[in-house]
Amino acid sequence: MRWWQEAVFYQVYPLSFKDSDGDGFGDLRGIVGKLDYLNDGKGGGLGVDALWISPFWKSPMRDWGYDVASYDEVDPVFGDMEAFRDLVDGAHARGMKVVLDLVVNHTSDRHPWFAEARGSKDDPRHDWYLWAPIKGRKKPNNWVCLFTLKSAWVPNPATGEYYLGTFTPDQPELNWRNPEVKDAVYGIMRKWLDFGVDGYRLDVCTAYVKDAKLRSNPPSHRANPELFQRHVYDRNRPEVAGIFREMRALADSYPGERVLVGEAHGHDPKLAASCALDGEGLHMAFNFDFLHAKWGAGSFRKSAERWYAALGRKNWPNFTLSNHDQSRAAFRYRSDDPEVTDRRCRILAMMLLTLRGTPFVYYGEEIGMTCERIRKEALRDPLGKATWPLAFVGRDPERTPMQWSAKQGGGFTSGHPWLPLNSDWKTRNVAAQEADPQSLLSFWKSAIRFRKARRELVEGTIEFVTAPRGVLLYRRRLRDSELWVALNMSRWAVTVPVNGTKGAVLLETVVSSTAVADSTGNGHFLRLQPWSGAIVG
Ligand code: GLC
Repeated sequence: MRWWQEAVFYQVYPLSFKDSDGDGFGDLRGIVGKLDYLNDGKGGGLGVDALWISPFWKSPMRDWGYDVASYDEVDPVFGDMEAFRDLVDGAHARGMKVVLDLVVNHTSDRHPWFAEARGSKDDPRHDWYLWAPIKGRKKPNNWVCLFTLKSAWVPNPATGEYYLGTFTPDQPELNWRNPEVKDAVYGIMRKWLDFGVDGYRLDVCTAYVKDAKLRSNPPSHRANPELFQRHVYDRNRPEVAGIFREMRALADSYPGERVLVGEAHGHDPKLAASCALDGEGLHMAFNFDFLHAKWGAGSFRKSAERWYAALGRKNWPNFTLSNHDQSRAAFRYRSDDPEVTDRRCRILAMMLLTLRGTPFVYYGEEIGMTCERIRKEALRDPLGKATWPLAFVGRDPERTPMQWSAKQGGGFTSGHPWLPLNSDWKTRNVAAQEADPQSLLSFWKSAIRFRKARRELVEGTIEFVTAPRGVLLYRRRLRDSELWVALNMSRWAVTVPVNGTKGAVLLETVVSSTAVADSTGNGHFLRLQPWSGAIVG
């Protein structure tokens, strides 16, 4: 087993995690100050093993750091190189890995490369980006800018051309067919691997290569997320596999298994699976299917089985329920009854930590942070602004500040937070949940510890077992040891046969004899209250 197969990953969205200097924006020193919360290296803290940190490089913040103006300089909003050093060293000292977000499908239009490239067709950097001539009023093709929902082609009068900007018009796309671009990116990768980071999350990596002829995408009937196009020419080109192989070879040339986690740009698990190339490509790529799965045992089972089938035997799975681009799980699976929402969050935690594959947790998920409508004047995300008043299309609601305590600013900032805190911050926060052994946070801690203590959950095989309606039941087996996970996602109390076990409840989502295992002459049964789960051994 490799560390990245065993680790529990935790995504930090640095603007919203912890502000150390009172300017209202989270920063690197803020993260350093919270390392013990994440894992103090002595068995305390949440217990996560690896941090994926969203970008903190110099940026005009049109896409809040996903528009990089220098891959070598920390943006002053986040701090400086010394803070970055302390973050990496501090995490390592506690046994945590640090994975950076590498955003190289595009740069910011403020990156010096683009400033040079856009000036003249003769500039040596011109061919580092993607261009098409301006001819009359017709755009070069039908590719769409995802955040403005207009054409992705942005006029550049100086050269009489358009450049391509699929995200915001301020994020010109690099020309990955140019070997100089590859060399430059690989140089950046080496630089921070040399510095000591443990790998990269590769932003929209399946979009690096575009069709050489810039053909229009064929139509699709799906509005979301495809915007009525089948994205066969503006992303998902087969040539990208060659880049993944090169990147893997680069990562493998370092000691300590530096990891590459791809963001496959699309919902199809097959696309994510295709990034791994049977051990020669990316170590993992995100499968976003759970972010769109309906609540219910059948729905999660089907989704997981599809993912495992797509991966085949040689590629390693991972699971995620929330990130900075999608509504949080606690919001998606909410109920009018907050008690039920809380119970569902526990079931999700147990599922995420016990399915076969690497779990990725999003900051705040461990305290059940939710999403709220944000008033127009407070919106920060370009997508949110473009789609207002359609609440929750934009991404601000899932990026609100971490709720640390009931102190002013939620313990996130002593100043004015860059995005409003969720309205429940006074009651739903880390301090309150740390003090309560029955809280969701306390459950996450126990569940993470349990996962670490039981190799079945990391190394073992997984097999789904037929169960009463509403129950997701699977066994994890390693040699002759077996654990059964039973998740009752329904509103009814159920009795689940767990005959392969000794009938001992080892972990339960709600402590209050929610789960009782008993044996009759006919074997073991587990009784589960509505919306509850248990691990039985
Ligand atoms: C990825 C990021 C998203 C960003 C986009 C453009 O999808 O997760 O936040 O806006 O790429 O970089």
